[in-house]
Amino acid sequence: MGFLYSQLFKTPSYPDGNFNGKTVIITGSNIGLGKEAGRHFARLGAAKLILAVRNIDKGQAATDDVLRTTGHKNTHVWNLDMSDYKSIQSFAKRAETELERVDIFIANAGVLRAEYNEVNGHEEGIAVNIIGTTLLMANMMPKMRETAARFNTRPTFTITGSVSYEYATFPQRSAPDGAILAVLSDRRTCEKYWSQQYSICKLAQLFIVRSVAERYSESELPVTINIVNPGLCRSELRREIQSWGSWLLELIFARSTQVGSRTLVHAGASGVETHGKYLSDCMIEEPKAMVTDAAGQENQARLSYEVFKAIEDIQPGVLQNFKGV
Ligand SMILES: NC(=O)c1ccc[n+]([C@@H]2O[C@H](COP(=O)([O-])OP(=O)(O)OC[C@H]3O[C@@H](n4cnc5c(N)ncnc54)[C@H](OP(=O)(O)O)[C@@H]3O)[C@@H](O)[C@H]2O)c1
Repeated sequence: MGFLYSQLFKTPSYPDGNFNGKTVIITGSNIGLGKEAGRHFARLGAAKLILAVRNIDKGQAATDDVLRTTGHKNTHVWNLDMSDYKSIQSFAKRAETELERVDIFIANAGVLRAEYNEVNGHEEGIAVNIIGTTLLMANMMPKMRETAARFNTRPTFTITGSVSYEYATFPQRSAPDGAILAVLSDRRTCEKYWSQQYSICKLAQLFIVRSVAERYSESELPVTINIVNPGLCRSELRREIQSWGSWLLELIFARSTQVGSRTLVHAGASGVETHGKYLSDCMIEEPKAMVTDAAGQENQARLSYEVFKAIEDIQPGVLQNFKGV
């Protein structure tokens, strides 16, 4: 009911305020929610906007579109492929060396496949939405921590999550300790529970945000980490899903990406009170009991532990990036 009410009766307000002096990075911003969030930030005067995309030509077309509609001249396209861990590391290094500051980072790139596809030994959604996004967050921390210290500000790292986490029954939680990620990527298990795969990724993102904030409180980490639900939006996300149900759902209930992206701008502009929080309709929302009750907390601890271990295996010492100097 909450979902239907939100889709039918709530409209996130049109972003105002100004982002003068701020550097904003948005991943997955050649189209959809990412591009529309970029357009809002550009319109509101962000000093510098980086569209982080895997296809430079598409990114350039988005930049041209943002320039044409807002007159914003300081929008740039940078390459980032979230399925390639080296690309994630190089992207963060480039931000560290070429940018003066990073105030707002919207980790928005996400994938919803119609069928199993393996990337880096994992199912693609697990590799991109969970492992890649967490690796990117950890790699961006040094620059964002430096921004906090140097400019006496509190940057924000926002992940675009989804209300669909509520539909994840997460049957793979019964896997033995240390084996959940492997089971989540196991082809047979994936095929059995495929309709769950995207929701589980979004549940995992929520777990990660909550876990990071539990490990690194707002006083230890000078960067706010939050997660935002943009609501169901008409975008290219379901490009591979050709079903009448999906088509009808979008037709009746979906927001435009221009409207949905307002929630990304709100989350990125939010303060310390949103550290570790789930935002929906531009408000902090308590996640469902399936996340907060004892079983949910145990699932969160077990899955987050595995994701943190996975990024440490890719890049030993990367978790140190969250800690103070
Ligand atoms: N639309 C909704 O109803 C909805 C609801 C809740 C949450 N979300 C979330 O919102 C975010 C944006 O989705 P959207 O609706 O705007 O869909 P979209 O139009 O399909 O945008 C997804 C973006 O992610 C990029 N991407 C995918 N895989 C990537 C990779 N390996 N490396 C780099 N970029 C990659 C895509 O790039 P390409 O164009 O090159 O593929 C695209 O720019 C996603 O995280 C999604 O889960 C969407």
